[in-house]
Amino acid sequence: MRISVIGCGHVGLVVAACLAKLGNKVTAVDTDGEKVKLVNTKVSPISEPGLEEILSKVNIEATRDYSPIRDSEIIFICVPTPSTEDGSISLEYITQATKQIAAVLKEEKGYRLIVVKSTVIPGTTEEVIVPILEGLGKRAGHDFGVCMTPEFLSEGSAINDYMNPARIIIGEYDKRSGDRLSSLYQNFNAPTLRVNLKTAEMIKYVSNAFLTTKISFINEIGNICKQLGIDTYEVAKGIGLDERIGAKFLNAGIGFGGPCLPKDLKALIAKARQTGYQPRILAEVLNLNNGQALKMIDLLKKHISLKDSSVGVLGLSYKPQTDDVKDSLAITVIDTLLKERARVKAYDPWAMPNFSKLFPQIEYVTSEGVLRCDAVLVLTEWEEFEHLDYKGKVVIDGRKIAKAKEARIYEGICW
Ligand code: UDX
Repeated sequence: MRISVIGCGHVGLVVAACLAKLGNKVTAVDTDGEKVKLVNTKVSPISEPGLEEILSKVNIEATRDYSPIRDSEIIFICVPTPSTEDGSISLEYITQATKQIAAVLKEEKGYRLIVVKSTVIPGTTEEVIVPILEGLGKRAGHDFGVCMTPEFLSEGSAINDYMNPARIIIGEYDKRSGDRLSSLYQNFNAPTLRVNLKTAEMIKYVSNAFLTTKISFINEIGNICKQLGIDTYEVAKGIGLDERIGAKFLNAGIGFGGPCLPKDLKALIAKARQTGYQPRILAEVLNLNNGQALKMIDLLKKHISLKDSSVGVLGLSYKPQTDDVKDSLAITVIDTLLKERARVKAYDPWAMPNFSKLFPQIEYVTSEGVLRCDAVLVLTEWEEFEHLDYKGKVVIDGRKIAKAKEARIYEGICW
């Protein structure tokens, strides 16, 4: 099929690359000229394992100009919907993109399908996107179709997540829209659920809200287990064997960060409050997460006084296998260390260039440099941290690194 993808961010690029790999003719649109240039030279503007290899083998036409999308049968919208001050999402980029699509559609005769893949609050596709698309005279369900299909990819395993999805959710304006999107997915081996637009939008938020609840739940259990001298990870293994609970997402630690989970949880809380409902569980999931990483500082203070001490930080990205530092809990921890006048030295295999844009004032060193500090905090579970020599050190571990237990003084956040 001929497909356009609007937005060359993490989701957009992965979708574009995978659809091209599956034999579709893909055009990718982004307002950032630098990104467009990179994609056209088959270089990935983001670090995602396997992405550049696909880009090197396929022919994606990247452009800043929307007019080439007129030849596409399906147009995916994959632009960001960032958080605003009150936790709700900004629709600035998605409304701009939709207006540009509407302008192209206006001149066209054939039926097109517009698919929202950006994460948007329930009601957005129907109440905001469709009216903009219809604004220039065309009619949804007649001249064009509309779907909302959430993306569940995780950074670091995004290609595999896209190619082998656990499920495909198709939110459809009408049957014709859903049929066209289904035909694109016909060779995927995954259960498919067809629902209305706002149900699809809600499924995305509820998936992420459930994952955050699972993490804050196990962190709370971990905080209790630590008081009782019980290993949380063994408890998690024990309960995870029950299929109703499941073993995944029960890794206790410093909490959840990244570009999606915190943002989506805040947006769902904000939307619920807008409707007049006060979400209690979700609000506590967020509160607990906000405090969890700071427990690292409390544990550290039991062993050294922070003022003028050197504190080494292992791990800056919000999780391994990415250089992404968006809403990384390392930000909260390092911010507090600096306020307490500690001298911070940090190491991360991939994320130091991104982190140094946020914290130019700290020292970036090798992992050996970190281990020479008065104390060490482990904030991300990079595999290479399992092979360091912690003997003789003071280590506060936020991610359960087995080898770190060899330290002279060792404390785990939840164990
Ligand atoms: C998440 C969702 O998993 C994905 O389905 C959605 O499409 C986008 O958001 P991602 O942000 O890439 O993906 O990372 P994820 O692997 O979910 O981890 C998010 C955060 O939770 C990380 O900070 C991670 O360290 C933390 N986490 C995860 C835990 O603390 N414990 C766990 O058991 C799992």
